[in-house]
Amino acid sequence: MMSQGQARRMESCLPVALLALGILLQLAGCSPPPDPVVCTHGTSNCTITNTVGFFLCPAANVTYPRTEQELVAAVAAVAAAKRKVKVTTSHAHSIPKLACPGGRDGTLISTARLNRTVHIDADKRLMTVESGMLLRDLMEAAAAEGLSLAHSPYWHSLTIGGLLATGAHGSSLWGKGSAVHEYVVGLRIVTPAPASQGFAVVRELGANHPDLDAAKVSIGVLGVISHVTLALQPLFKRSVTFMKRDDSDLADRVATWGRLHEFGDMLWLPQQGKVVYRQDDRVDVSTPGDGLNDNLIFRATPTQVIIAARSAEERLQENGTDTARCAAALLQADTMERQAYGFTNDGVSFTGYPVVGYQHRIQASGTCIDSPEDSLRSACAWDPRIPGARADNSGFSVALSKAPAFIADMQRLRDLNPDVFCVGIDSRTGMSMRYIKASSAYLGKQEDSIAIDINYYRSNIDGTPRAHTDVGDEIEQMALWKYGALPHWGKNHDITFDGAISKYSKAHEFLAVKDRYDPDGIFSS
Ligand SMILES: Cc1cc2nc3c(=O)[nH]c(=O)nc-3n(C[C@H](O)[C@H](O)[C@H](O)COP(=O)(O)OP(=O)(O)OC[C@H]3O[C@@H](n4cnc5c(N)ncnc54)[C@H](O)[C@@H]3O)c2cc1C
Ligand SMILES: *[C@@H]1O[C@H](CO)[C@@H](O)[C@H](O)[C@H]1NC(C)=O
Ligand SMILES: *[C@@H]1O[C@H](CO)[C@@H](O)[C@H](O)[C@H]1NC(C)=O
Ligand SMILES: *[C@@H]1O[C@H](CO)[C@@H](O)[C@H](O)[C@H]1NC(C)=O
Ligand SMILES: *[C@@H]1O[C@H](CO)[C@@H](O)[C@H](O)[C@H]1NC(C)=O
Repeated sequence: MMSQGQARRMESCLPVALLALGILLQLAGCSPPPDPVVCTHGTSNCTITNTVGFFLCPAANVTYPRTEQELVAAVAAVAAAKRKVKVTTSHAHSIPKLACPGGRDGTLISTARLNRTVHIDADKRLMTVESGMLLRDLMEAAAAEGLSLAHSPYWHSLTIGGLLATGAHGSSLWGKGSAVHEYVVGLRIVTPAPASQGFAVVRELGANHPDLDAAKVSIGVLGVISHVTLALQPLFKRSVTFMKRDDSDLADRVATWGRLHEFGDMLWLPQQGKVVYRQDDRVDVSTPGDGLNDNLIFRATPTQVIIAARSAEERLQENGTDTARCAAALLQADTMERQAYGFTNDGVSFTGYPVVGYQHRIQASGTCIDSPEDSLRSACAWDPRIPGARADNSGFSVALSKAPAFIADMQRLRDLNPDVFCVGIDSRTGMSMRYIKASSAYLGKQEDSIAIDINYYRSNIDGTPRAHTDVGDEIEQMALWKYGALPHWGKNHDITFDGAISKYSKAHEFLAVKDRYDPDGIFSS
């Protein structure tokens, strides 16, 4: 017979594992996330909420240009009226209020309908797309021409304009590294202009234009990017193996793993004392395999399962013991590992590592937004219409030269009381560590770095701290203040950005371009 304690433990951890298991109960459909902009009167009196349910702000109205010409007209209209304006996208993923025009009187310009391929030059391996195109569609259109984007974020529903603006990335130290902006060789940006030029102009920035270093990571304050030209590579294959190891030598391995494997990354489970290493390399296209990355976290989940998992998480948070929280975290990690994180060798089943497949089937995924609408019977786990997963997301990068000392500090903190890491870090997906290289972009990384990403439980009541919230705070403060970490522009709370600009040696160059492009600051709130 089970003891009372065991029974309670089972009760509180089972539903959390349900989430991992429920994701496997593939339903035919899924409801894609709602439009982030909601208006009460046509396109007026609007609010914007990001895709994971963070309310961002009100806005007076929204416009959806379908062509660059319509975009120029939209910018001209706000510039002529000296109104505030911001760009938003089809799903609006960023957490900071970057899309807020300030006050209630601003205008939103959405790139949701600027989603076409403009031109592909297969010989020169160049692709020009409209800025609202989703990464998913870009990868597919490139692959259809035998081309691929070398690196990308792991979730495929970001827009090219949004992911560039926030410096989004995958994981690599090879070549130019993992940030998509490293592959930008040209763009067109619509900025305000004097009345004599019709209040708005298109600026075309070629590969050698000095302003490209400002525009390719711009947090949306220079104007609206209309077209982006990317340098692609011939479509290649990758060979992926996940292996779990002891974390005792993580501080040393963090500095070398990314040099050994082109797409290497790490997932640290501090309480369990384990690291899941992603050994991921380019292989010859003749290598057999048609593997698919259909990441478990980015799959459609039945709504009832999402709700059950959230209630279990709330119970663990409010009334659970550390032991119960750690048991749930372990079950979650084991379930993910057994399911190979959603990788399959042929698009159907997982038969063992390595998984070999084409770049566009491996680099990013997101089937929860692709499946046919099923009236909210299933959804992405974070869909704001469902009382489901609510998370805070902190993301920051530490220079590779300082990463071993930072990891050693975190391990010392962990050794004081490992179980307190189960609430925030082990319990979700672990602490993700990805590589990113120093950039010429003024707001890009200053040095080769390790980008750390942590998802935390977030209470339904704003401002209510999660259990052991001090652990995450300590890690973040150590990273930011002791190790000079740079925040990811599209993640974090506002406080994480305090003083951040002083860590960028080219901040003045960036601001000089901003003053030239938008002297009245209509794109700044
Ligand atoms: C589920 C999920 C997975 C994620 N995975 C990753 C990951 O693997 N790697 C990573 O680095 N990040 C990741 N992120 C963070 C994400 O990359 C950033 O939030 C990203 O910038 C959001 O892109 P978006 O298209 O939603 O843009 P938004 O969040 O809507 O916009 C971001 C900024 O870009 C500006 N902007 C958008 N389009 C234009 C344009 N055409 N011209 C000028 N400015 C523009 C907006 O004004 C805003 O300032 C993830 C986020 C989520 C929610
Ligand atoms: C504007 O929208 C808000 C909700 O965001 C609503 O309360 C208000 O009544 C609306 N105003 C008008 C004039 O419709
Ligand atoms: C937004 O509202 C302002 C003020 O009423 C108006 O001048 C502007 O034309 C509107 N823009 C759009 C795109 O509707
Ligand atoms: C592009 O946007 C239009 C308008 O919103 C939409 O109908 C179309 O399906 C989109 N194309 C793709 C490939 O998503
Ligand atoms: C935690 O316990 C208290 C007291 O028994 C109860 O009121 C509360 O609803 C519980 N919280 C959750 C999420 O179950």
